[in-house]
This record gives sequence, C-alpha cells and structure tokens, in this order.
Amino acid sequence: MDKPHWHVLGAGAIGCLFAHGLRHSGSETTLIMRRGTTARSLPVVIERGTQRCEHHLPVITPDDTAAISHLLITTKAYDVHSAVSSIARLLRDNCVVILLVNGLGLSEKLREDYPHLDIFCGTTTEGAYPLSEQHIQHAGRGETRIGRAGVVTPPAWFERFSRATDTCVWDAEIDSALWSKMAVNCVINPLTAVYGCRNGELARRDELSSQVEALCAEVAAISRAAGFANIAGQLLPTVRAVIAGTADNRSSMLQDIERGRQTEIDYITGYLLQVAERHGIAAPYNQSLLKRIRHHAQ
Ligand code: PAF
Repeated sequence: MDKPHWHVLGAGAIGCLFAHGLRHSGSETTLIMRRGTTARSLPVVIERGTQRCEHHLPVITPDDTAAISHLLITTKAYDVHSAVSSIARLLRDNCVVILLVNGLGLSEKLREDYPHLDIFCGTTTEGAYPLSEQHIQHAGRGETRIGRAGVVTPPAWFERFSRATDTCVWDAEIDSALWSKMAVNCVINPLTAVYGCRNGELARRDELSSQVEALCAEVAAISRAAGFANIAGQLLPTVRAVIAGTADNRSSMLQDIERGRQTEIDYITGYLLQVAERHGIAAPYNQSLLKRIRHHAQ
C-alpha cells in the first residue's frame, strides 16, 4: 500500500503532534477518541514560535466500524492495553502498529495478546505540551527512532511515515534506544518527582547531583547485566547531558504527580527492577524511589 491511512490512538501532546505531522505531510490521518466523543472531526492546532498551523482531522471512537490498517499508539503506558482492547475488533490482520510510548515491557505483552498484529516500537525526544485539548505547543524539535530488533531494512510504509516530523530515523537496534531512554528516565523522572524540582536542579543542587550519581551507578549495573554495556558505560554523561538540555523542563512524572494523575513508574523503574530481579542484582535505591512515587501517587 503506497499511502497508508494512519489512525492515532492517544490524542495527548505527542499523539496530536504526530497526527498533525502525518496529515500535514499528506497521509490520511484519523484520531481515535474515547467512547462518547460526538465530534466527527476535531481541529488539531500546533504552535511553533510565532507560527500556528491547524488541520481538521476526522475522528472515530471504539464504537465505529472502521477497518484499521496502520495504527500509531501514543497513550500513557498504563492505558495501552485497555485502549488497544477497546479497538481490537477494528484492527485488520497484519495491521502495522507503532508503539510510541514511554517505558518498557508493553510490546512483549501486546505481541502475546495480539499475535496477528505487525508491531514496531519507537521513541522520541520531540518536546510538546498541551495548551488545551488538541492545541499543542511544539516546544523543541527532537529525533524520533522507529524500528523492530533485527529488522534492518525499513518497511515500505516507513518512508511516508517519517515525513511526519523533521527527524525520524529507522533503527534496527531500537531495543538499545528504548533501554537508553528508560535508563535516563529511571534517574531523572523519579528524582524530579520526589523533590518537586525542574530537571536542571538535579545538576545545580549538590545533594541532588550526588543522588544522580548513585542512581546512575545502580541503573548502569542492571543495564550491563541486561546486555547494554555501552549504555551502562555512558549513562552518567548521558544523563548529565539530558539534564543540561532539558534544564527548564518539569519531567513528565513530576507533571503527573502535580496533576494528581497516575504515573508511568511501573513501566520505568518497575520494569528495571523486574530485570534486576531476574539477574539477582540488588537495587535498593530504585526500590525506594518506586515505593515513594507509588506512595505520592495515591
Ligand atoms: O519524561 C520526561 O520528562 C523526559 O523523558 C525527560 C528526558 C526526563 C526530560 O524531562
């Protein structure tokens, strides 16, 4: 199929950014909204500096009868399974699915539950936040990596998909990219959420910067055991570079806690701890952060 029709599940900041980008670059694009949404189309607005760009996108809900051939999932990690199961009957056999979601452990479960789907994973450093529903500030241009372990040649749909953003690359070693993102998130997200600080404070305050070092050492040991020695060796400088590059940001976990929302801790630190346990590695620092975040989130 030359011109796939993309359905986007999860109309948060990243979902809207990609839905808008796909439509803008000429792909037919539909938003999948919650049951009960009555609108048949919605304006998606992206603000970039002084520029504003709007596209009206068609909308379906899980009660519709569409046949979905290409699905981009951009929900919160904890919503993936219920969101996919709500539209499962709409998904064609071999439907291409890109899971562009924070955290790890979700694609394995999706493959088990839906063996007839063609599942790929992705990670992005695009910076976007909602100003209001489907009205998004594109705060910083980043890089998106899509792939499936061992698939070296991108599938035919990728070329058009990649036009949705400025930098979207195929990554045959996507597992490393996903692990690296998770490892960085294991350090920055829980610390900023527990101390209620912007990312940059982790470098500025001595007591926090020594916690960054201690946590990096623990995450690096687990990364090494999981087969990601390169990531382990570079973890501290990588984390410091992300902190410097996102110094003014409030991490996604801090924002979730501030808004009283569920966090993605189980798919970040929780996933890391499952791997640590499998390898018999003690990770007391991560354990205690997991407990504190779960406690905060109650
Ligand atoms: O989750 C986040 O907020 C981001 O992944 C990161 C890198 C921690 C920057 O804020």
